[in-house]
Amino acid sequence: MKFRYNFQGLGLSLIILHLIGVSENAKILAIFPFPGPSQYILVKPYLKTLADRGHEMTVINAYPSNDNGKNYRDIPVMEAHEIQKDYMAGAVLERNLWSGLTFTSDLFYNVTRAVLRNPQVQDLIAKETFDLAIIEAVNTDALYSLGPHFGVPIIGVSSFGNDIIIDDVMGNPTSLAYSPSMNTGFTHQMSYTERLQNVVVQMLELLHNRCIHLPRQQNLLNSYMPHISESVESMRTNISLYLLNQHFSLSHAKPQVPNMIEVGGFQIPSQIKPLPKEIRSIIDHSPNDIIYFSMGSNVKSKDFPSQILQMFNKVFSQLPYTVLWKFENPELPGKPSNVHINPWFPQTDILAEEKVKLFISHGGLLSTFEAVHYGKPILGLPIFFDQNLNVNNAKEKGFALRLNVDTLTEQQFKNSILEMMENARYSVKAKEISKRYHDQPVKPMDLAIYWTEYVLRHNGALHLRSPAQKMNFLKSNSIDTIGILVLSVLFVLYLGVKILCKICKLLCAGRAKKEKMN
Ligand SMILES: *[C@@H]1O[C@H](CO)[C@@H](O)[C@H](O)[C@H]1NC(C)=O
Ligand SMILES: *[C@@H]1O[C@H](CO)[C@@H](O)[C@H](O)[C@H]1NC(C)=O
Repeated sequence: MKFRYNFQGLGLSLIILHLIGVSENAKILAIFPFPGPSQYILVKPYLKTLADRGHEMTVINAYPSNDNGKNYRDIPVMEAHEIQKDYMAGAVLERNLWSGLTFTSDLFYNVTRAVLRNPQVQDLIAKETFDLAIIEAVNTDALYSLGPHFGVPIIGVSSFGNDIIIDDVMGNPTSLAYSPSMNTGFTHQMSYTERLQNVVVQMLELLHNRCIHLPRQQNLLNSYMPHISESVESMRTNISLYLLNQHFSLSHAKPQVPNMIEVGGFQIPSQIKPLPKEIRSIIDHSPNDIIYFSMGSNVKSKDFPSQILQMFNKVFSQLPYTVLWKFENPELPGKPSNVHINPWFPQTDILAEEKVKLFISHGGLLSTFEAVHYGKPILGLPIFFDQNLNVNNAKEKGFALRLNVDTLTEQQFKNSILEMMENARYSVKAKEISKRYHDQPVKPMDLAIYWTEYVLRHNGALHLRSPAQKMNFLKSNSIDTIGILVLSVLFVLYLGVKILCKICKLLCAGRAKKEKMN
């Protein structure tokens, strides 16, 4: 059963791509300068696949590599790493929502500016031509100017799925009643007060974007791309297509205009690679089930306070399981013998192992999708960004538990692990969600490639856009028309009441006169 689904999906995908064939080789500019590793890890397989299909890729990024192979050229923006350091140093401070948004907007301002004033990028702007721009379309709005500059359509990619800003840009209805802001950590099932809070947060996000963020990006545009006459606002509502790292099997069903494409998990290789010898041997020689523990690429396990590390060690030493722990130092004092540390593990290939029964994770979106792909339950230790939301979603779906690192006790940690290892319901759920996720007519990567080449074939996909993309808020929500109708009804009611009052007054006056005469 399980295999039939997989092969059907694969077969259909291959047939579809084969029928359409490779579009003419295009020159594609991809812009992914964000200095957190996971964003680039997410899109690199997609950009490489485009290169393998014969397109000539030029990729502005902060993680250049020596072995990119054919058709793939890096334009490194290494300044981004300094910016990320500044940001991480400041990110630990407590902020209210508004100043938190301003702080994030600062980060993107710094990144956008670093790209636009990078000498290699300036050289490229002055001398080269392209057919398509693929942009990490998240808050670096001034970079959309590269679309009009080269006269090419733009594809946006969001590493975290859609939010109210992307909905706003794409003219997509935002379902405030059941689509929570990432900043709240709520899932789609919200109580009344949570919904109220969600509306306030999302409205503030929209307001901040319009009033603070966009004008600053406009300033960058005016200083570095003065020959572009369109406003940032009009450029960003001209995006042909959005690829979203999300899937309804993990989040929830919601309306989406046809040029918003869900490709969640498209970074996961379709083939499992053989594990390095040392890891292979640990797994083969482990008499017990295995737990895989990784906090992802932004947070490092080695940076946990030492009393937490000791607590982890103590709990692991009491468990009848083998633990593979992504730990970035060569030594872990007090490491029990059933724990194996390594600064890096081939995560997807490890999750593919039958013996691996639990993933202790920070709950980043890439890791969460990888767990879903291989049907493994998650014990979540979320730290920041969307991690709360992802772990809450997984918990609600029934294949995760969530712990709070700040208040975590030894007993809690141990009990949660034992509960998840001994009670089959978590892995049964994980397998069920995994089966739903895999049951797609076209695999996420093939879908991403199909729509990318679609935009190339049609030289932009403006016909896919919702008319709402070019309307203002009042117009697209019909507030201007329904508003007039409501006002008219109110006016008629008002007139009616006024007339009634007049008549009453006349009648009363008449009676008074009569009484007087009597
Ligand atoms: C942005 O750069 C400025 C200096 O140009 C720095 O003071 C500020 O901390 C940076 N902001 C963030 C959020 O990184
Ligand atoms: C919108 O994009 C199309 C190409 O996809 C281009 O012809 C048009 O000039 C763009 N308009 C703006 C306002 O950027």
